[in-house]
Amino acid sequence: MKIDGKPYRTIWPGSDGASVEIIDQTRLPHEFVTLRLRTVDDAARAITTMQVRGAPLIGATAAYGMWFALRADASDDSLTRAYEKLLATRPTAINLRWALDRMRARVRPLPAKERAAAAYAESAAICEDDVATCHAIGKHGLKLFQAIASKKGDVQVLTHCNAGWLATVDWGTALAPIYMAHDAGLKVHVWVDETRPRNQGASLTAWELGRHGVPHTVIADNVGGHLMQHGRVDLCIVGTDRTTVCGDVCNKIGTYLKALAAHDNRVPFYVALPHSTIDWTVRDGVAEIPIEERSGRELTHMTGRDEDGNIVTIQVTSPGSPAANFAFDVTPARLVTGLITERGVCQASEEGLLSVYPERRGKAA
Ligand code: MRU
Repeated sequence: MKIDGKPYRTIWPGSDGASVEIIDQTRLPHEFVTLRLRTVDDAARAITTMQVRGAPLIGATAAYGMWFALRADASDDSLTRAYEKLLATRPTAINLRWALDRMRARVRPLPAKERAAAAYAESAAICEDDVATCHAIGKHGLKLFQAIASKKGDVQVLTHCNAGWLATVDWGTALAPIYMAHDAGLKVHVWVDETRPRNQGASLTAWELGRHGVPHTVIADNVGGHLMQHGRVDLCIVGTDRTTVCGDVCNKIGTYLKALAAHDNRVPFYVALPHSTIDWTVRDGVAEIPIEERSGRELTHMTGRDEDGNIVTIQVTSPGSPAANFAFDVTPARLVTGLITERGVCQASEEGLLSVYPERRGKAA
């Protein structure tokens, strides 16, 4: 996607041939800063600190982390250490394990001297796959927008967290159909949940929609239900960090409450996802998906720009009050109208997923 007319991806090979560059997402929306990653520790740190975040982008960054590790030491031990270090960075998004498994399967059979080059090529292929996948998700999701627009003229869509191009290599998952609908000339307006505590909606989704010229309004996390009761949301679209065989959807904390409100108000609730986000080993999302718990400081403190233009961090809670920071929740499949995959839209159910991924029949958990 473009920033001030210049095309960017979220991760790209450095000009020195030995690094990759990323956009430091902890600095957005106030500053646009790029960083260079050169080592497996750099990659792990970027994921843990959320300089890169969003399920597909975490996977792509981890893949390059494997390349860095193998370039320094291509032994089996180094491969295992890098795999484990990168896997431990964040627990919930399954794309991380998917990318690491793909990297390991590609390089492990090779002689040590060939591993680094193969790892680089595989990382680049993971990135290209992600771009093509998100583009296809956008094309399939676009049809939902066209159907609504043909009936009522405009499309009011609500999204949670950031499932835009910043969360992937390009295009995004939930935002890909929105960009395509906007580019096709449809009258689209996006209600952007702020997404406390890290504000991925207010800071990242609003930023990227604004840069692309998509009309949007940031709302507090608790507003969606009210808007839906008053007929001001035509559909919800969110991303996911892990989707189970049965169609349960784990996504940023607060997604479940939006799905409940959508269900109560008969607002369609869609989830956009690439194949790499499906965990074919898990059936019951609530019982089986590990939910990341992050530092309470993300809740008790907020960072923003003050009126003099300085970036400052302030405490917003009563001093001494403990804070619990659960980063994800699970929306049961029964609340999901449909899954928008790169192969088409399907029901959020085992049969639905198998209808678009028939090669998994007989192999899922
Ligand atoms: O904690 P984050 O910012 O990495 O969480 C991101 C999300 O929850 C996104 O909605 C999800 O990864 C889907 S993005 C394509």
